Amino acid sequence: MKKSLLLALLALPLSLFAQKEDPNMGIIPAPTSVHRTRGEFKLTPETLVLVDSPNHKAIKFFKDYLLKNNLATSVTDMAMIDPKKMPTKNVIVLSLNFKDNLPAEGYELHIDENRVEIKGHGAGMFYGMQSLIQLINKTSPGSATIPCGNIKDHPRFGYRGMHLDVARHFFDVAFVKKYIDVMAFYKLNTFHWHLTDDQGWRIEIKKYPKLTEIGSKRAQTKIGRAAGPTAIPDLYDNTPYGPYFYTQDQIREVVEYASSKFINVVPEIEMPSHALAALAAYPEMGCDPGKGYKVGETWGGFDDVFCPTDETFNMLYDILREVIDLFPGKYIHAGGDECNKVAWKKSEFCRQLIIDKQLKNEDGIQSYFMEKIEKFLNTRGVQMIGWDEILEGGLAPNAVVMSWRGEKGGIAAAQLNHDVIMTPASGGLYFDHAQSKSSQEPLSIGGFAPLEKVYNYEPVPSVLSKEQAKHVIGVQANLWTEYIATPSKAEYMLLPRMLALSESAWSDPKDKDYRNFSQSRVAHHLAVLDKMGYNYRVPTAVGASDTTMKGGKFKLELSSPVEGATVHYTIDGSEPSENDLVCSAPLEFTVPERGAITLKTIVITSSGKKSIVNTMKLEN
Ligand code: ACM
Repeated sequence: MKKSLLLALLALPLSLFAQKEDPNMGIIPAPTSVHRTRGEFKLTPETLVLVDSPNHKAIKFFKDYLLKNNLATSVTDMAMIDPKKMPTKNVIVLSLNFKDNLPAEGYELHIDENRVEIKGHGAGMFYGMQSLIQLINKTSPGSATIPCGNIKDHPRFGYRGMHLDVARHFFDVAFVKKYIDVMAFYKLNTFHWHLTDDQGWRIEIKKYPKLTEIGSKRAQTKIGRAAGPTAIPDLYDNTPYGPYFYTQDQIREVVEYASSKFINVVPEIEMPSHALAALAAYPEMGCDPGKGYKVGETWGGFDDVFCPTDETFNMLYDILREVIDLFPGKYIHAGGDECNKVAWKKSEFCRQLIIDKQLKNEDGIQSYFMEKIEKFLNTRGVQMIGWDEILEGGLAPNAVVMSWRGEKGGIAAAQLNHDVIMTPASGGLYFDHAQSKSSQEPLSIGGFAPLEKVYNYEPVPSVLSKEQAKHVIGVQANLWTEYIATPSKAEYMLLPRMLALSESAWSDPKDKDYRNFSQSRVAHHLAVLDKMGYNYRVPTAVGASDTTMKGGKFKLELSSPVEGATVHYTIDGSEPSENDLVCSAPLEFTVPERGAITLKTIVITSSGKKSIVNTMKLEN
């Protein structure tokens, strides 16, 4: 490449660079095929949006988008226009009704200087719009430019999930909608809503009001880590938490909102374990009703679980009847994880149940339990999802397995011809894990799930045959909230890692390229997320690493990982701030013999978000 061209490219604003030079035109997740062409479409207040299905929910979404962003004047039903007079210039054509068979959820997006066209059925149209929105550069009020190109796109997996635990800490409806918005922007289609756990029951059940009257609050909450070297035993905040729960009207509102963004909501009602909040409300569901159960105040496993009596099952069926009415999707998640069976081992009732039902042991109770629940759900047209422990003691016949303890459970289930959703903690898909090893990261449950690890996760294990691999229906990341009490921290843990998840869920592995993703597209998207009002973890400078380098002369190229952000540095060991020097060109240092320089860098975005401080030691 000629030097002058290289300089010209470097001088381009990153957003335009991402769209014009990037093989994915800056889009996340990377589309199936992108063909860039010259020129741009100019969106003006005169631009006509022509539609063939004016009442479709995808069109309603786009109308709202245009209105909120003060773009284009009108959306017109094509049927109202004389075909001979159909405008062909300065138009955006949105076609939902056509014969071609696009792949499921697929779309085609064509942009030339005169015309933008999206073709897609249902969800496909919606995803075409999301790609278009990612390409729109607003220039002045009412006007925007869109780079020309042709995109054909469809997802790799039909299940593209993001989970949110609202039991350990509660997140209100406004936040849940904001969460759904950013999921939809990155073409995820399943919101796994973890509604019940030991520390809180968060869904109103009309027949059992104490579930929320008692189960949605706890007397206090553990401070600091619950386990590990930095844990301080018996340290609590002495502050009641709750009552926090969603009314059934609020649940309906969220389900409808998610549907308007082509997102299915999978509610999780945990059983037989993670049930303390329910036991505190209705002790008769436990094996030792006189024990005095109380809603969990600390994190980790508890011995008390639902007792497999007829009374418990009848209550769970009643609860699930209301849940089925609220959630129209085909899945309900019934938990099934981390049941340590201590209470069952102590229970006379359980001992007798093992004999009566000819079960092998307490593992047999676990599968007896989950099979009964599955049967109840199946007869109502609902498929059960469970965490991979549901394999223990025998898998319920039609269950979908969510593989979280590595991939072993997922592999075993796929080999038994069960559908599987991959969400292994070991694959970086536990977003409650830390994003770097630095002590500057906020308190987390531990672990290590940096962006690159999330990005490189491959959901289909190579040991599966081609047929078995078809049972891997998708991939999901989980946001457990023991150590996440606020929306801002939830967003910090979610972003940008969810962008990496979306690419694993949507894009063909051959189109994945971490360098292109992290340095070009993510840099642009983080600036976009700033404008959209999201918090996120600001990556450290590109080229910075927590290492000691040896040598006399150094030339370091450090660049910003966020469009519009600056990298500040110090070399005297002090903590860098916005008042310190800016890296605008390669940094050159000569280190005297037996000397050392401590180079500290920080990235500060235009909205004031800061990265952690990175320290590099340069030694001679
Ligand atoms: C889980 O993380 N216990 C599913």
